[in-house]
Amino acid sequence: MNKTVLEIRQVEKSFVVGGNRVQVLKGIDLTVSAGEVIAIMGPSGAGKTTLLSIAGGIMRPTAGTVRIAGQELYTQNDEALAGLRNRSVGFVFQMHYLLPEFTAEENVMLPALITGGDRAPARQRARQLLEQVGLAGRTRHRPGELSGGEQQRVAIARALQNQPALLLADEPTGDLDRATAREIQALFIDLNRRQGQTVIMVTHNPELGDLADRIVMLEDGLVVLPPEPLAAKEAETKGAGEDVLPDMPSRGSNGLPDREHGG
Ligand SMILES: Nc1ncnc2c1ncn2[C@@H]1O[C@H](COP(=O)(O)OP(=O)(O)OP(=O)(O)O)[C@@H](O)[C@H]1O
Ligand SMILES: [Mg+2]
Repeated sequence: MNKTVLEIRQVEKSFVVGGNRVQVLKGIDLTVSAGEVIAIMGPSGAGKTTLLSIAGGIMRPTAGTVRIAGQELYTQNDEALAGLRNRSVGFVFQMHYLLPEFTAEENVMLPALITGGDRAPARQRARQLLEQVGLAGRTRHRPGELSGGEQQRVAIARALQNQPALLLADEPTGDLDRATAREIQALFIDLNRRQGQTVIMVTHNPELGDLADRIVMLEDGLVVLPPEPLAAKEAETKGAGEDVLPDMPSRGSNGLPDREHGG
């Protein structure tokens, strides 16, 4: 049951900018079990995107270890790391990063094709996934022919193509209006409740925090709320979370995934 999907130990990350070293993550420990929904919250600049990128194999940490389903990520070379990432992790960003020339169905097929899958099963799964996210009637549409919420649904379907152990989302509703944001949030929760999908989501949205099993609060590169599973996941526990949540400042603009690739 309580299988560990993600294990982060003493992760640190610093960047050197203009000759100065900036310590962004200062020793993060985090263990996530299969089937959990984790909300990562905290002020702009706290290191949330950096932590998510390191958790998902996009960015090498300066120190510490990351394991996904028991496999250590950063002892691998770049090629092996990329393979592991493609098989084990699905990403959803604030911006969808769909390929504009391709249809919804083709966009969702891509992760399977990249890992060497055959077209026919990839297409079949893409159709199933698009149906699951409520887009059965939009498989031939290109991103430009879809609404913002629909584009994000395609991005979620794409992230699920390879049945990732871990679904990571960085402010996935940040660009959407309130009602659409709610629908997308509901979709993430639905994926978790129905299929046990493990989800880690960076959000400034307290509503989404309330829906999570656990809130991990980051401040200035450190976890300031307990990183391990709380004793009880009951509704009371989640309700209590509201009292300790400070008001979040409005989100920053930095939701981009590609500031650094494995450097
Ligand atoms: N590639 C980089 N080079 C230098 N500094 C960086 C780099 N990436 C991030 N930083 C710095 O690390 C800090 C944390 O950035 P990060 O994007 O992780 O914050 P965040 O918590 O996601 O913020 P937000 O809520 O605004 O998205 C920031 O001060 C940022 O300037
Ligand atoms: Mg961020």
